[in-house]
Amino acid sequence: KKPDFVLVRQHAFSMAQNEDFRNLILGLHYAGVPSVNSLDSIYNFCDKPWAFSALISNQKRLGQEKFPLIDQTFYPNYKDMITTPSLPVVVKIGHAHSGMGKVKVDNLSDFQDIASVVAITQTYCTTEPFIDAKYDIRVQKIGADYKAYMRTSLSGNWKSNTGSAMLEQVAMTDKYKMWVDTCSEIFGGLDICAVKAICGKDGNDYITEVVGSSMQLVGDHQAEDRQLIAEVVLARMNQTLAARSSSASRSPVRSPQGQKPTTVQPQQSAALKEGVADPNRSSTQRPQPQGGVNIAVH
Ligand SMILES: *[C@@H]1O[C@H](CO)[C@@H](O)[C@H](O)[C@H]1NC(C)=O
Ligand SMILES: *[C@@H]1O[C@H](CO)[C@@H](O)[C@H](O)[C@H]1NC(C)=O
Repeated sequence: KKPDFVLVRQHAFSMAQNEDFRNLILGLHYAGVPSVNSLDSIYNFCDKPWAFSALISNQKRLGQEKFPLIDQTFYPNYKDMITTPSLPVVVKIGHAHSGMGKVKVDNLSDFQDIASVVAITQTYCTTEPFIDAKYDIRVQKIGADYKAYMRTSLSGNWKSNTGSAMLEQVAMTDKYKMWVDTCSEIFGGLDICAVKAICGKDGNDYITEVVGSSMQLVGDHQAEDRQLIAEVVLARMNQTLAARSSSASRSPVRSPQGQKPTTVQPQQSAALKEGVADPNRSSTQRPQPQGGVNIAVH
């Protein structure tokens, strides 16, 4: 049985947790099931460097002043880890969440050790300069609601999500709003998203990541946030229904002579990852499924 609508609140993919639900995302997209966030965007979040590339485009468009993105380097595999980054550096291996696969490296010999670990993972990695953090920033947007949080490590762990930390809600500034509004426009629009940044002891901000509807809720207003998510879903369902009934009323009444029905465009399932110019893919557009598609959803 095909679901009418889905809200996706978990990661579709994580190497660290050995979680891979991309097959479900494909199935839902194949069946044209409407979703929050959009299935296109969820697929685009399955590799962090892919999502980071969208931030790089924004940084190029807006400038480093307005969109202070951290200077990240991408290594397709360990063989490319020969150029020495400026140390200390944070190495992020593959696509994982909650600080997994994330290592701080202080010197060259440790960097070479990590490269040998990356070698056996058979995945990509990224490096970014280690920022001595005053605090972490998280700006979230759910529909039209904005909230900003500051997290300060108390235990002194450089990963502020590890050990004890203090979380405080802070004022939504124009700067924060601009960051999250910019992020909410990527991949065709994100109804629910958050942007993460580090405020360094040097006084500079460094945007590190954007997360979509799988984002964790934090702070004292989680009940309100859940309510806001429900409202976003209702609004989208309403919109989907309105679009469906208006297109149904527009479509011509089928004549008994058996006129050819309006041609249905094949779904653009091949073009999931925005901007992929892969000539092999354009010819692999799949036809629309004829009957109902069976998808297991828990
Ligand atoms: C490299 O850094 C690590 C961690 O700070 C340290 O334990 C190790 O002794 C250092 N190695 C060298 C060669 O400096
Ligand atoms: C649903 O959409 C209609 C217009 O299409 C609007 O008038 C109505 O307020 C919407 N309801 C909700 C709950 O969003």
